[in-house]
Amino acid sequence: MPTPHAYFQKQFMPLAEAKIGIMTHAFNYGTGVFEGIRGNWNDAEQQLYLFRLKEHYDRLRKSCRIMRIDFQYSDEELYSLTTRLVEMSGFQEDVYIRPLAYKSSEVLGVRLHDLEDDFLLFVAPFGPYLDVEKGARCCTSSWRRVEDTGIPARAKITGIYANSALAKTEAQLNGFDEAIMLDERGHVSEGSGENIFVVDGERLITPPPSSNILVGITRDTVITLAREELGIQTVERDIDRTELYTADECFMTGTAAHITPVVELDHRPIGDGKMGPVAKRLMRLYFDIITGRNPKYASWCTPCYSKVKA
Ligand SMILES: Cc1ncc(COP(=O)(O)O)c(C=O)c1O
Repeated sequence: MPTPHAYFQKQFMPLAEAKIGIMTHAFNYGTGVFEGIRGNWNDAEQQLYLFRLKEHYDRLRKSCRIMRIDFQYSDEELYSLTTRLVEMSGFQEDVYIRPLAYKSSEVLGVRLHDLEDDFLLFVAPFGPYLDVEKGARCCTSSWRRVEDTGIPARAKITGIYANSALAKTEAQLNGFDEAIMLDERGHVSEGSGENIFVVDGERLITPPPSSNILVGITRDTVITLAREELGIQTVERDIDRTELYTADECFMTGTAAHITPVVELDHRPIGDGKMGPVAKRLMRLYFDIITGRNPKYASWCTPCYSKVKA
């Protein structure tokens, strides 16, 4: 039986034993930064492959710099801690790994300085987040994406997810699958946990980082695969809400959502209201790669289990 574990206060332990105190600064004030890394199960090889570990930890480091979190782990230590954690947990299915660096002092007072920092990791089973085959029915959120002048969206800050949660719940309670947020200028920013792409003839268009997006690792994966494998270039520029209504195709990308077609927005079908051909070709490539089946992109996949079928 798999037993989910955590790395907490510099030790591995069963997840159920890893508890923070109720005065922990990050819990009270949202002063943590985190990552979400997928482990993708390859049944034929009996192996779990972690996708783009390096890029996730690079982004975590940047988030720490913005939030003045002292983060002293080397890449090698992080890779080793992460793979050991997954291996000792023993899952034989897709998982999600959550690295979290946070203000750990148990004190009152909102600030970033003169506080202790800590780092934890946990792993949990994690299946599909949105229906990648059927696609997502979306709405334009009445909530605007937080601005870089308010809370910087390029950092994956725990507190910023109040913005995402407001948008996601509004969308779901109104009968949609996902919310698409605009920035303060009214341009398309991103979903509550996904970046957005539009297919426009022979190219892809996606909002730039200055539209207050989290600069996604799946976004980079799609830009790379479109260019290298399909010969499709991506333009990063502002996108108006109504451009999505008239796009040939639209899809969202994210570690949780993988590549999910947006088949409807604000009660208007996008394209013919089904997954489009570009999304389909990208998805085929992407799912092969994340499960370690494409040797060309093997460097993006880190295996966790040391004893595997030949
Ligand atoms: C707000 C937000 N935007 C975009 C993404 C997609 O980023 P990535 O592809 O790195 O998971 C995520 C998920 O982490 C997210 O939470």
